[in-house]
Amino acid sequence: MTFSLGPIPMKTPFILAPMAGCTDLPFRLLCTEHGAGLCYSEMIDCHGLVSQQQDCLELLRTNVAEQPVAMQLYGSDPGMMGEAAAILAEHPIACIDINMGCPMEKIIRKGAGAALMKNPLLAEKIITSVCNNSTKPVTVKIRSGWNQHTITAPEIAKIAEGAGAQAIAIHARTWTDGFTGPIDHGVIRQTMESVSIPVIANGDITSHEQGLALLKKIGCAGVMIGRAALGAPWIFSGAVNQHPSMAYRIKALLRHLELAEAHLAPEPSLSKIRNHAWKYFRGTTNGAAIRKQIDATTTYPELKAFIHNLAERMFRQ
Ligand SMILES: Cc1cc2nc3c(=O)[nH]c(=O)nc-3n(C[C@H](O)[C@H](O)[C@H](O)COP(=O)(O)O)c2cc1C
Repeated sequence: MTFSLGPIPMKTPFILAPMAGCTDLPFRLLCTEHGAGLCYSEMIDCHGLVSQQQDCLELLRTNVAEQPVAMQLYGSDPGMMGEAAAILAEHPIACIDINMGCPMEKIIRKGAGAALMKNPLLAEKIITSVCNNSTKPVTVKIRSGWNQHTITAPEIAKIAEGAGAQAIAIHARTWTDGFTGPIDHGVIRQTMESVSIPVIANGDITSHEQGLALLKKIGCAGVMIGRAALGAPWIFSGAVNQHPSMAYRIKALLRHLELAEAHLAPEPSLSKIRNHAWKYFRGTTNGAAIRKQIDATTTYPELKAFIHNLAERMFRQ
């Protein structure tokens, strides 16, 4: 039960969603190791990429072991988005994604992200420009619409297909819904009916089983998981108990630290890793106490020592 992204066959329909501040190279590698079929990068500002800003260039870090990887661009200027796509297309990545779902005020104010869901003409110009400047397949990540009165996902998906996009990922909520409220499977179905390219469903998938059930229920090509993968990369694996033991969690976190050290020179950012580490202990006995100790660490080496200590005590038992 897999699909192809243009010429690229997916090994599994389970996909890691783009998440700013979270889906960096180490986390994507970890999710790939646990079976994710495709991982999306954090969103990259097209202006920052074209003007070679250091923080944007750092987001381009990739590695052959994480293939296939998708890198996501955001912006509202078709020319700039095209230029940024041409730069990205030179990188060893599988595909380029266009962000049409971000609800953040600073993005919306510039007419980018979810604001494009109420501006089909500009959306079309942007997708056309990105597709014309990319030798890689292009995907578009959309929402259901701007609000419940303007459900534009089927229309925008059709426009995207016409402009050359190879797949659509839909977070089935509107801009006004933000990140809460029910996911609208009806809009995903309507979007699937409006196009012949693969449609990937996103929003509130909290377990591997739920992903499989959704694939079966609505027949979408893939399922994209965001928040539920944080601190739980095993969600991509059908072979792992979705409520793993403390020992399993700590082992996964240690691997996360190892990948972060290998790929984030000179050392991983404490706040980012602390944020990830915290999530490995969600819903566990003693989780609250462990998280408190994680929060109390003030340097990366201190955090690492704490986790190693925890592991030693755990594996001695
Ligand atoms: C911390 C965080 C950062 C996010 N950053 C992005 C982003 O950079 N680009 C994007 O298209 N969506 C972004 N999203 C939205 C997710 O990709 C996803 O659509 C949303 O979280 C719903 O899926 P979920 O319920 O599986 O988390 C972000 C979400 C979160 C929680």
